[in-house]
Amino acid sequence: MTTQTIKTTPFSDQKPGTSGLRKRVTVYQQPNYVENYIQAIFDSLEGFAGQTLVIGGDGRFYNDVAIQKAIRIAAANGFGKVLVGQGGILSTPAASHVIRHYKAFGGLVLSASHNPGGPEGDFGIKYNIGNGGPAPEKITDAVYARTKIIDSFKTLDTADIDLNAIGTQQVGDMVVEVIDPVKDYAALMQTLFDFDAIRALFAGGFRMTFDAMAAVTGPYANAILEDMLGAPKGTVVNGTPSPTFDNGHPDPNLVYCKDMHDLLMTPDGPDFGAASDGDGDRNLIIGKNRFVTPSDSLALLAANAHLAPGYKDGIAGIARSMPTSAAADRVAEKLGIEMHETPTGWKFFGNLLDAGRVTICGEESAGTGSNHVREKDGLWAVLLWLNILAVRKHGVDEIVREHWRTYGRNYYTRHDYEEVDSAIANQLMDDLRGKLASLPGQTLGDDMQVAYADDFTYHDPVDGSTSAKQGVRIGFVDGSRIVLRLSGTGTVGATLRVYLERYEASDGRHDLDTQVALEPLIAIAEQLAGIKSRTGRTEPSVIT
Ligand code: G6P
Ligand code: ZN
Repeated sequence: MTTQTIKTTPFSDQKPGTSGLRKRVTVYQQPNYVENYIQAIFDSLEGFAGQTLVIGGDGRFYNDVAIQKAIRIAAANGFGKVLVGQGGILSTPAASHVIRHYKAFGGLVLSASHNPGGPEGDFGIKYNIGNGGPAPEKITDAVYARTKIIDSFKTLDTADIDLNAIGTQQVGDMVVEVIDPVKDYAALMQTLFDFDAIRALFAGGFRMTFDAMAAVTGPYANAILEDMLGAPKGTVVNGTPSPTFDNGHPDPNLVYCKDMHDLLMTPDGPDFGAASDGDGDRNLIIGKNRFVTPSDSLALLAANAHLAPGYKDGIAGIARSMPTSAAADRVAEKLGIEMHETPTGWKFFGNLLDAGRVTICGEESAGTGSNHVREKDGLWAVLLWLNILAVRKHGVDEIVREHWRTYGRNYYTRHDYEEVDSAIANQLMDDLRGKLASLPGQTLGDDMQVAYADDFTYHDPVDGSTSAKQGVRIGFVDGSRIVLRLSGTGTVGATLRVYLERYEASDGRHDLDTQVALEPLIAIAEQLAGIKSRTGRTEPSVIT
């Protein structure tokens, strides 16, 4: 077993996006593509000699190949130990917990999240730091800079490592420990939630369906919901992880979970439906006759968190990404706690969580989480919902309506235009930015007066860093908002996201159809950005 230094040449496209480097599998399969990127990550870090690295992935196609490469490169670069989930599996929140729990130096999370998998699908690599969260921009920028000039990588000349047997083995000078991917995570959940109360809920006949989407949460949901909490067998569906996600699209939204949504809308359907994505960090929540938008779910979880043992003393503050609706802001105001608005991407919550300034965070993109890890956490959100339902003894619909009667309702939708030509999308955004200065004070549509218009700049209150150009915001006097930004997670062309929000007071109308309620704003967005004429699309590819 010898350490080898292999000559390589840079790839020009290894710029990490919102959440690591996501590319088609075929891109990752190019010789040295994985090696260059991982070596560039290690070259951008300091002080890891002899330390522990966590490696885990969502089990998608190419996971097994990339993990073997990662272990060899870690050994050759001087890590002391690699902790890896059995079979190479760790959900993203579980990986975050393992990094924290075992005080690792950092971790490699191998996933393209909710993007499809398989030979024609996507793959991804993300580096997380010692707090368990995604590396901040300072590191991802350094990694990108390094990928542009890298000329060699280090690896170990060794056979494949057996990742199926739990236990330790020696790889060169490094120890590889294969761990149960579920155990530590399940134990953490037990400290946060009232498992007895949830067990009693199921014992009382409460019916739930959890769609693991043939992705990583299957083993976690089976162990926690069915084995530990006594939910009937069959509560978890699509619970066996598949490298291609059974040829599905593991994104828990109303398009890809339509069957579950329809089931929840039938009179004799279950009481509660939930799903998680490819790597287990997103969540979808649907009650009987009630879909809960992620922005509302964040607000509701924050308002009710004190009902779960892990949060019984209250929460310190809430953070949401800028495009997420302001529903949570009203909860923070009522609770008299801090509220933070950050750019899209979980990495921006890390500093606020580490500083103890916020306890619960969430994004419109179906992510919610808390200070228990430094990633969003799909099953955590499901368990907090279950805990709240068990304590309040009301259905989801009743709890949502009561929330609106207390705080008002933020009607909210997101329209996505996927795989748009990048040049067209960038031009659209540039032209829109050019108009912003003239908008405040103008009346758009019938009677919508613009209060402010800008390209969001975030000033991190903890480390003082600044992140500019994070999305165009047009705010109206009545609290409505239109936000436009280009996705940072797509792998082909550009995805234009249009986020629309309108506030209806606590004594207002809460039963309108969302698309109808937002119609005037949808028209104004079109008028300002010319999406249809520029892209040639007549309607969004996805509406959430
Ligand atoms: C990933 C990130 C999230 C982000 C989402 C959407 O899931 O972890 O933090 O909100 O992608 O990002 P995008 O740039 O595609 O809108
Ligand atoms: Zn994900």
